[in-house]
Amino acid sequence: MVHRAVLGLIAFVMLSGCNTQQSAFHPGGPHADRVETLSWVMFIGGGLIFLLVIVLTAIAMFVAPERRQWMTNRRFIIWLGIVFPVVTLTALLVYGFTVARHLVTPGSPALRIEVVGEMWWWRVHYLDAQGTPRLVSANEIRIPTGRPIEFVLKTEDVIHSFWVPSLAGKLDMIPGRTNVYRFAADRPGIYRGQCAEYCGDQHALMAFYVVAMESNDFEAWYAAQIQPAAEPVVTQLIQGKELFLQNGCGACHVVRGTPANGALGPDLTHVGSRLSIAAGTYPTNVGTLAGWISSSQHLKPGNLMPSFGNLQGEELRAIAAYLESLK
Ligand code: CUA
Repeated sequence: MVHRAVLGLIAFVMLSGCNTQQSAFHPGGPHADRVETLSWVMFIGGGLIFLLVIVLTAIAMFVAPERRQWMTNRRFIIWLGIVFPVVTLTALLVYGFTVARHLVTPGSPALRIEVVGEMWWWRVHYLDAQGTPRLVSANEIRIPTGRPIEFVLKTEDVIHSFWVPSLAGKLDMIPGRTNVYRFAADRPGIYRGQCAEYCGDQHALMAFYVVAMESNDFEAWYAAQIQPAAEPVVTQLIQGKELFLQNGCGACHVVRGTPANGALGPDLTHVGSRLSIAAGTYPTNVGTLAGWISSSQHLKPGNLMPSFGNLQGEELRAIAAYLESLK
């Protein structure tokens, strides 16, 4: 039993070491660096105290009383039983507070991005200097590297928690409140984020990606995203667009440059350029898009998107292909 638990623990530590996209042990920025150091100091500090307690307990249990009289010595009790834990724990506490106070990444933010948690996805607004949304996206946040980004965190319904372990600690999104979080990515990469506060049935499927890019790449990406959706030229995609509009998809989704202007669900203007659909649940491709359109309630029960089971075959493929083409 015990060795199974130990093996399980070793497997857990090794497997969690494999994941570099979503791991506080693979920091991608200064904030996460500090969180990692703090974690190790707390883990080692707590581990040493734990070991000491276990050793003393074992001595008390298994060593004959006449051979461990030193344990009842008043000075031993005062120094090791009171002074040592008070000093050690106070030092760890003060260290923790000091690190926490310096967690906010200094420097003027390169960009302000509003992220709104909804059951169970993330609405993303890239704000201009006045705080007005300029570009709307969903479930994926692209940022330039090397400079702090200010995240303005809100919720549309219940409490969610915004967490990108490789970049920063978690911060709750609380109804009626705006929380501001500032952190940076040092190097380009894909960092996975996850809602870290239980928020209903599909809490586990409320993930997102932060894609950090070199500044030039980011500017080019932003300039492309701000454009309306490309007009389809291939027959299948033209048909897909028509079916998308005929089936009322535009009542809930925006595709800029088309009559689709519903604000309830994710903006789909450039959905084909995103890594995932359904908030990090599936990779974006024609197959997953078709599956999601026809069976979204089967794949993620309780989400606001109804299953369009009426759509099949060529029609379903055409809509999925159209959405996938929106790069
Ligand atoms: Cu949103 Cu858990």
